Amino acid sequence: MFKKLYTYSLVFLFFMTLLYACSSSSSYRMRSFFFDGVPNPADQLQVVLDSTTILDSLGNATVIVKPDMYVHPPYENRGCNNCHDIQNISKPKLPVPQLCFECHEKPADKFSFLHGPVDAGQCTQCHHPHRSKNDFLLRLVDNDLCLNCHMEAKVLDNPIHEAIGDTNCTQCHNPHGGNDRFVLQKDACFNCHDTAIVDNEFVHGPVAANQCNLCHDNHESQADKLLKFQGDALCLQCHVRADVLTTAAHKTEAAKTTDCTQCHNPHSSESKYLTLTSETP
Ligand code: HEC
Ligand code: HEC
Ligand code: HEC
Ligand code: HEC
Ligand code: HEC
Ligand code: HEC
Ligand code: HEC
Ligand code: HEC
Ligand code: HEC
Repeated sequence: MFKKLYTYSLVFLFFMTLLYACSSSSSYRMRSFFFDGVPNPADQLQVVLDSTTILDSLGNATVIVKPDMYVHPPYENRGCNNCHDIQNISKPKLPVPQLCFECHEKPADKFSFLHGPVDAGQCTQCHHPHRSKNDFLLRLVDNDLCLNCHMEAKVLDNPIHEAIGDTNCTQCHNPHGGNDRFVLQKDACFNCHDTAIVDNEFVHGPVAANQCNLCHDNHESQADKLLKFQGDALCLQCHVRADVLTTAAHKTEAAKTTDCTQCHNPHSSESKYLTLTSETP
């Protein structure tokens, strides 16, 4: 009798799990089904996690297809106490994002600009803390993830986006942060621009660091080559004129009166001091 009940309940749980995989609203319903007034939620969940196993009418266990789900490692094997106080399971024991930073690197340590929701600590807007049918525990995939908050019409209004249509947003934007306010991926600029400008042996410091934005303003800028500053001022953001002038090459009259870029390539060069050479684009 007990065995039969056990069998039925496993089969039932298995179908509930299939249902769970299909919709997030049913996920909530299913969880409340398990948690309302159930004394030991962790035990119940363990059964759901084991839904790869199904019992036939004779009670023999068969392992069926692995559910196509990414399970957050600390969630597996009843690791609930990694994040919850077991007495108060419905709330995480630390607020997000502090909870996540217990085990994951802080994006602020990695990027100088943070994407809005990351800056606001809203990790769970994009990631499910337990498991997901999508890689990286994502709640939505591809452009749907981004267009959940960004208005498609507004994004496409930008001349850059108009040209690229529906290319995957994360090809160019890092979902967490970047070196500029547009949170661009390293090398995103070269999705559209020729890499010739950096394909030389010596690459200028800020270019190698992907800090294009320190010299170029965004695509709405009206300045020539979208430069942030005109003339030497661009270079003197980082270099000090008095120091530059002390070297022999700069002591000539020409060096004092011409722009730095008349002699130096701002991006890269075959010569060590980034001086212009005939082969350098
Ligand atoms: C990696 C950390 C982490 C682990 C491990 C974890 N949880 Fe959670 N859990 C969270 C966070 C964060 C929330 C809040 C979700 C939100 O705010 O969107 C949450 C929410 C919940 C809720 C509230 C309902 C819901 O889904 O929003 C329940 C119930 C729950 N978890 C149960 C569990 C159980 C049972 C386990 C173990 C099998 C577990 N959790 C393991 C982080 C975790
Ligand atoms: C108790 C430690 C722990 C906590 C707390 C934790 N994680 Fe994780 N997380 C891990 C481990 C371990 C992995 C798997 C190893 C890895 O990829 O770093 C992982 C993997 C991930 C992945 C998938 C990585 C991949 O490569 O597929 C994401 C996304 C993630 N965690 C997000 C979060 C978020 C968001 C939070 C907070 C709600 C959080 N984690 C809290 C330990 C933790
Ligand atoms: C705007 C949506 C979004 C937000 C908000 C977000 N992430 Fe992510 N995260 C992603 C995407 C998309 C990926 C997949 C990686 C990729 O495409 O490069 C990812 C990947 C990850 C990974 C695995 C790969 C890696 O970079 O280590 C971890 C861990 C992670 N996120 C943690 C977090 C934490 C912690 C927070 C909150 C501070 C957070 N995420 C906030 C979208 C987001
Ligand atoms: C949870 C909501 C949310 C999601 C999901 C989201 N964003 Fe954002 N995004 C924001 C907010 C909020 C800002 C900050 C807006 C501001 O500062 O004006 C922002 C800013 C940006 C910016 C900089 C805009 C600017 O003018 O400086 C870019 C680029 C961006 N998001 C791209 C993406 C991409 C790509 C994705 C998908 C991986 C994504 N966003 C997903 C909420 C979101
Ligand atoms: C989606 C494609 C795309 C991406 C990504 C892109 N650009 Fe552009 N960029 C263009 C287009 C289109 C133009 C205008 C046509 C042209 O002059 O080549 C342009 C023009 C420019 C110009 C002016 C060129 C000139 O001759 O006046 C500069 C400088 C520039 N982009 C720098 C960058 C930087 C730096 C990045 C990365 C932060 C970047 N672009 C990313 C498409 C892109
Ligand atoms: C140190 C300042 C500086 C940095 C950093 C920088 N650029 Fe430039 N960039 C310039 C200057 C100056 C010009 C104008 C060159 C000219 O007029 O010949 C320029 C021109 C360009 C052009 C137009 C090319 C052409 O031949 O007209 C593109 C595209 C470009 N940069 C892309 C980038 C990208 C992509 C990065 C980052 C990987 C970057 N730049 C980083 C200073 C910089
Ligand atoms: C091929 C590269 C590329 C792809 C793909 C791309 N973007 Fe962008 N995006 C850029 C560049 C470059 C800028 C900076 C524009 C500028 O300089 O004005 C930008 C700017 C933005 C901005 C801020 C300016 C604005 O228009 O409001 C948002 C938000 C944004 N992107 C969201 C998205 C979303 C969402 C997607 C996917 C649907 C996406 N991007 C796909 C390159 C890209
Ligand atoms: C954002 C800061 C920044 C800006 C702006 C900048 N530089 Fe640089 N520059 C650097 C860094 C960092 C190095 C690398 C220093 C090193 O490796 O010791 C460097 C190196 C150089 C070198 C080679 C020095 C050597 O010893 O190898 C030259 C030449 C140079 N820059 C010229 C320029 C010119 C010309 C401009 C303006 C178009 C400019 N820089 C703008 C930061 C900058
Ligand atoms: C008339 C051409 C000319 C002009 C103009 C010029 N440079 Fe140079 N610069 C050179 C040459 C040539 C070298 C290589 C010196 C050597 O071989 O010792 C050099 C070397 C450098 C170096 C590396 C050596 C050092 O001094 O540390 C830096 C940095 C530099 N220049 C920055 C600048 C900046 C910034 C400007 C504009 C304010 C500028 N240069 C203007 C020709 C020029």
